[in-house]
Amino acid sequence: MPLAPLRGLKGAKSRRIPPLFAHDRIRGDSRLRNQDIGVTSLDNGTKTEEAGGPAGAVALAIINQKGGVGKTTTTINLAATLAQLGKRVLVVDVDPQGTATTATIGKAAEGTAEILGYGSAEEVQGLLSALIRHSGAYGVDVIGADFDRLNHQEIALTSSPMLMVRFVELVEAVDTRYDFILFDCPPALRSLTTATMYAADHVVVVVEPSKESIDGLGKLIRFLGGLTKLLQREPSVAGAIITKADPREVLVRDVRAGLEETGRFPWIQTIYLTVGFKDAYTESKPLAAIAKSHAHRLALDDLNALAHRILELVPSTA
Ligand SMILES: Nc1ncnc2c1ncn2[C@@H]1O[C@H](COP(=O)(O)OP(=O)(O)OP(=O)(O)O)[C@@H](O)[C@H]1O
Ligand SMILES: [Mg+2]
Repeated sequence: MPLAPLRGLKGAKSRRIPPLFAHDRIRGDSRLRNQDIGVTSLDNGTKTEEAGGPAGAVALAIINQKGGVGKTTTTINLAATLAQLGKRVLVVDVDPQGTATTATIGKAAEGTAEILGYGSAEEVQGLLSALIRHSGAYGVDVIGADFDRLNHQEIALTSSPMLMVRFVELVEAVDTRYDFILFDCPPALRSLTTATMYAADHVVVVVEPSKESIDGLGKLIRFLGGLTKLLQREPSVAGAIITKADPREVLVRDVRAGLEETGRFPWIQTIYLTVGFKDAYTESKPLAAIAKSHAHRLALDDLNALAHRILELVPSTA
């Protein structure tokens, strides 16, 4: 698919005011746009079509400080599901481990670190096309991660907080090319995840059915509270995902109850427990491409339900 030209960053205005954190938060559309980049209506926050094109991408940050809960697996399979539904999806690998990159394009790749490291907003324009790769198996585009480079940039981020705007500029640059931008975050609530928060319209929390996940919820909620203070806005939390979920398992119910108790998650979506995800990863394909068993199909049904919840985040242009 030929790519639309990148929107120039030179002198670009903020595409959203502010990213992720909107004063007039309206469920399903926390995004307000800047009138001087062609917003046609900001009256009630539900119409955000820009002059000359459809409303831009919805950017999501997929987070949890705990490792191995299923963030990447869910992100890339959600991306593939959205692509199957005809949506244009960009996966941005923000984790130095580069699992999303390896899964979708087969090997570590430059990309995210370079976005964070470029010298100026203008510079990204020339670089971006070369940094976006296409995954045929998943039907999505990917900005990849490479362990050494991204680790290095994480250190740079802590010493130069202005780099935090780089993901915002990335989203501005590709806004009209994609329907969804999914940031797969590392298992830490440090600078890389924080940088992503500036650029995302919504945050999605991923947990697994475990006592550790329940214990970690407090830390997550404190992180979100800290962000509220940092940026003086309340983050838009789209919902929570419980991965590896066998609905009969008591821990699934306990984790759901724990999430509900926080009052922070408009929806909670489970993703069925199946080794199929691991098999699909081994074959460098999404689950949908290898699904044959009943358990696979149950997981695909859940992914489909999740994708439809994500579709609801698209601002109405009616
Ligand atoms: N729904 C599921 N059913 C069964 N296994 C799953 C499911 N989702 C993820 N897994 C498995 O859990 C393991 C960890 O998944 P994944 O790498 O996606 O987690 P992560 O949260 O991204 O980890 P990290 O924090 O290290 O980035 C993988 O082996 C993956 O196949
Ligand atoms: Mg991961």
